[in-house]
Amino acid sequence: MYDIIDTRYRNDVVLRGMRFVKDCNWLQHYENIVDPWHLLMLHQMISGDQFEGALMQGAPRIGFEHTSLGVRYRVVKDLPSGNRFVRHAECIVPNAFLIPDIRETGTTPKRKERCSELSWAVPVDNEHVTGLSIVTWPIEDGEPRKDWRPGTDTVQDIRPGSVLSRKYEERQRKPDDLEAQEGQRPIAVHALENLATSDTGIAMLRRTLREQIKRVSDGLDPLNVVREARLNQRIPTNAWNTILSPAEASMLQGEEV
Ligand SMILES: [Fe+2]
Repeated sequence: MYDIIDTRYRNDVVLRGMRFVKDCNWLQHYENIVDPWHLLMLHQMISGDQFEGALMQGAPRIGFEHTSLGVRYRVVKDLPSGNRFVRHAECIVPNAFLIPDIRETGTTPKRKERCSELSWAVPVDNEHVTGLSIVTWPIEDGEPRKDWRPGTDTVQDIRPGSVLSRKYEERQRKPDDLEAQEGQRPIAVHALENLATSDTGIAMLRRTLREQIKRVSDGLDPLNVVREARLNQRIPTNAWNTILSPAEASMLQGEEV
């Protein structure tokens, strides 16, 4: 269950801080963000459709890229409706991340719909992590809408599969992110892993983190340290949902949308 830890009004927007704790090393939570294959393997094949909308439709074409801030995945799906779904989620190293709306229906064409929340995987100690999110929350009658739920996979208790009060047997038969991450041991033993092509995003993220650790030990700034105030203003990010109509999809040969 997540906690709402803060609510702040700013002009016509409400920002809410939310958090929850998982009993595993922070990296097991953070790697999830660049692992789109688990959407198919865990959330569809093993546990049945645990999401709704475009994420559960069509076969994906999956890619991974370094960005100016870290690593992102790209998922492209040609939906049964004929629309094309293009999605990027991004790790902003060392521990921030952006996940576009997981409830995207795929029905209305849109370009680069940005995330409504910014999240962090914050280590508590080696065996516990706090998932922390700042969420832009819609307002109704001057108050945060009560029936609205954030569009991120990170905040627990927003899908039936992620409710922490599920019975043990149900969690075994239909595991969700929590079971997959905590089930790797409190600290996953990387030496026991056999990484495959589908783990490309995870390998890229681990390598990028290692490079930043080396930079710090060499006395250099790691990625995403901005010391110049002029540059530390609006920093472009690289995560979004795009829906292309069939006509738009046929005009755009590439998938860079
Ligand atoms: Fe997940």
